[in-house]
Amino acid sequence: MTTFGAWSTADEVLTGMDLRGSNALVTGGYSGLGLEITRALSRAGARVIVPARRTDLARRALLGTGRVDILALDLADLASVRAFSPPVATLDIVIANAGIMAWPETRVGDGWEAHFAINHLGHYALVNHLRPALVPGRTRVVSVSSSGHFLSGLRWEDPHFERGYDRWLAYAQSKTANALFAVHLNRMGIQAHAVHPGSILTPLQRHISREEQVAQGWITADGRPAEGFKTPAQGAATATWAATSPALDGLGGTYLQDCAVAAPATTDDMLVGGVKPWAVDPVGAARLWELSAKLTGMDVFT
Ligand SMILES: NC(=O)c1ccc[n+]([C@@H]2O[C@H](COP(=O)([O-])OP(=O)(O)OC[C@H]3O[C@@H](n4cnc5c(N)ncnc54)[C@H](OP(=O)(O)O)[C@@H]3O)[C@@H](O)[C@H]2O)c1
Repeated sequence: MTTFGAWSTADEVLTGMDLRGSNALVTGGYSGLGLEITRALSRAGARVIVPARRTDLARRALLGTGRVDILALDLADLASVRAFSPPVATLDIVIANAGIMAWPETRVGDGWEAHFAINHLGHYALVNHLRPALVPGRTRVVSVSSSGHFLSGLRWEDPHFERGYDRWLAYAQSKTANALFAVHLNRMGIQAHAVHPGSILTPLQRHISREEQVAQGWITADGRPAEGFKTPAQGAATATWAATSPALDGLGGTYLQDCAVAAPATTDDMLVGGVKPWAVDPVGAARLWELSAKLTGMDVFT
């Protein structure tokens, strides 16, 4: 199905592709993986819209990158999502990439747990808000999930952790939500994929101490990435592939890793990867959509 794999880079995935005339939107497209995705899409000719929580930082990070529009957006704030106005009428690619991980307990909006709110509800609301620019049969939406989803399905009885907080379960639930979002959006007629990008050292780990990262086996004692970690350019490849590869025509609703459709997970080892059943369950995906519509008051698809 693909000639690309775990160590491919976003530029390699786009080799020979001419994206001139295409419009892409990449949330968080100014840090870590998003920055690499933005740069690669831009080098291939796309116009890239980058919604940014910190526009000054985005401007500095994207200085010298081709045609990029940086617009203010805070995914934690529904009013900010509703006020967001992309400068194009149609979007060929939407990459819901922005995210937070392992934050101390934080509440946003109506007391929502921050991972669920920013990683999932903010993107749910944004895609609904952008609906007029999404064209069935043309637009692809990529929802950046994680093998972190292994640790938790949706906590239907307590999605906002009102009965006790765990920062890893909060991240895990939000990443399952990212995967389920792709399943149901695809069912609603817009080709959508969920992606696990791999393990990559980026500012995402800002709340994890160096000692903890060594203990987790993510970095060596002298601060280098552990074996098996990808570079940011490699980490950007699967999302870029999901957004553009003709090999995925008609294969929406899938969970991808290493530039391939992931197999069902056979172990609990996140580094081995694969996808857990609760992250691709269409019943759970429909239920999450309903919950998200209720919480945000937005649903223009059904
Ligand atoms: N790195 C990994 O190993 C890994 C593994 C699996 C999955 N992922 C997923 O990959 C995605 C990108 O992660 P990364 O590693 O590139 O992290 P990163 O460098 O920290 O980038 C995250 C981006 O999200 C933005 N963001 C955070 N909160 C926001 C908000 N409220 N509104 C708008 N934007 C917001 C950040 O903007 P500010 O800096 O302005 O807050 C930043 O630009 C995430 O969804 C993550 O879960 C990463």
